[in-house]
Amino acid sequence: MANKPLYITDTILRDAHQSQAATRMRVEDMLPACEMLDNVGFWSLECWGGATFDSCMRFLGEDPWERLRKLRKAMPKTRLQMLLRGQNLLGYKHYADDVVEKFCAKSIENGIDVVRIFDALNDPRNVEMAVKSVKKHGGIVEAAISYTVSPVHNEEYFINLAKTLESMGADVICIKDMANLLLPIDAYNLVKKLKENVKAPIHLHTHNTSGTGDMTNLMAVWAGVDIVDCALSPLANGTSQPATESLVATLKGSERDTGLDLSKLSEAASYFRGIANKLKADGTLDPKVLNVDTNTLLYQVPGGMLSNLISQLKQANAEDKYYQVLEEVPRVRADFGYPPLVTPTSQIVGTQAVLNVLSGERYKMVTKESKGLLKGEYGKVPGKVNEEVRKKAIGDAEIITCRPADLLEPEMEKYTKEAGDLAKCEEDVLSLALFPQVAPKFLEARNNPKKPADENAVRELIVEDLGN
Ligand code: CO
Repeated sequence: MANKPLYITDTILRDAHQSQAATRMRVEDMLPACEMLDNVGFWSLECWGGATFDSCMRFLGEDPWERLRKLRKAMPKTRLQMLLRGQNLLGYKHYADDVVEKFCAKSIENGIDVVRIFDALNDPRNVEMAVKSVKKHGGIVEAAISYTVSPVHNEEYFINLAKTLESMGADVICIKDMANLLLPIDAYNLVKKLKENVKAPIHLHTHNTSGTGDMTNLMAVWAGVDIVDCALSPLANGTSQPATESLVATLKGSERDTGLDLSKLSEAASYFRGIANKLKADGTLDPKVLNVDTNTLLYQVPGGMLSNLISQLKQANAEDKYYQVLEEVPRVRADFGYPPLVTPTSQIVGTQAVLNVLSGERYKMVTKESKGLLKGEYGKVPGKVNEEVRKKAIGDAEIITCRPADLLEPEMEKYTKEAGDLAKCEEDVLSLALFPQVAPKFLEARNNPKKPADENAVRELIVEDLGN
């Protein structure tokens, strides 16, 4: 075991509410706690990226860039961290390299210090440009391994991937265990191997969906992991991260004492307890996500995906099909060559599983995104695709084998032109590029504050988006 303090990243401002409460925490609910959070001494605070950008504009009427600037101002001392989906940025398709660079530059300029970059398929070609851009603009690159379990994923696979990411310039290597599939003893072995094979610090991100998250963190700590993600207790556990206070208390007095002050944590926690209660009271936080669910180990379904599936089935009045859909998920995943389940593959596989169950015949209806994945538009899948399914879905369409973004011409100029007067700055152009269905309505409402946003139109968008 390493004789050094363990560093903590707290996720209360991003993954905790993304995983438990559909990313609905507002910046007004964050700001009163920022000074407290800033004084704790976290290695970083994860507070942006992931689904927050979309949620800001789609549901909260907030400018995501403005949120970032407010958070930066309110927390001047602590590193601010974001989650970025490689070449997909925060959207759901591949963007051209010039858009990737501009987005990274603007994220850093507006206040981000650490960018955790991952690719759903673990195709290093999909993170290369983001890694380069973050480095170029002075950010800390945390390149992530999307952890999963499958016949094609083993320790050797992950070590090789970590070495590749380090050679590309990663400052930190993250094990991103989005579904809490990384069991405690495997975590110990994997971290030990990674520490032997790469020089970069190792940062562990897990969830507590299957109730093993605290043990996984502790075993990783004992194996020498450098940084661990936790969430303050009011939005911790279940589909979210294990609780910060518990790990800090556990390590107190040990060689890996975090040095964090429990009373400061408790003060911040008591504030967020009020926010959590509000989210429970208005139904945003479904208590279902707090249960220990070992089904995640069988179905490999990440936390955010569980709450998405519940809401998709609710909309279709088919909540009784929940477990049937959960059983279909691993079958679709095998057909698609065992992609790890994380945005966007979790949505692609999840929605396809819902369609396979609700339509009564597997692959009778195939989404555009499923077709894209089978065509290689998202990059190289880890395993072999079920050719029968591929044939049924895309016929004889050509399969892409190059880096998908190599097929894209520069796009910034086009996006700038399309944005016209709606965009008041380059950040707005990026918002429009990433969320072409949501951003125009949001920006129009923001630019003309007297005209209230058309709530029905926004609601239609939500339904439309879930359907494709
Ligand atoms: Co996560």
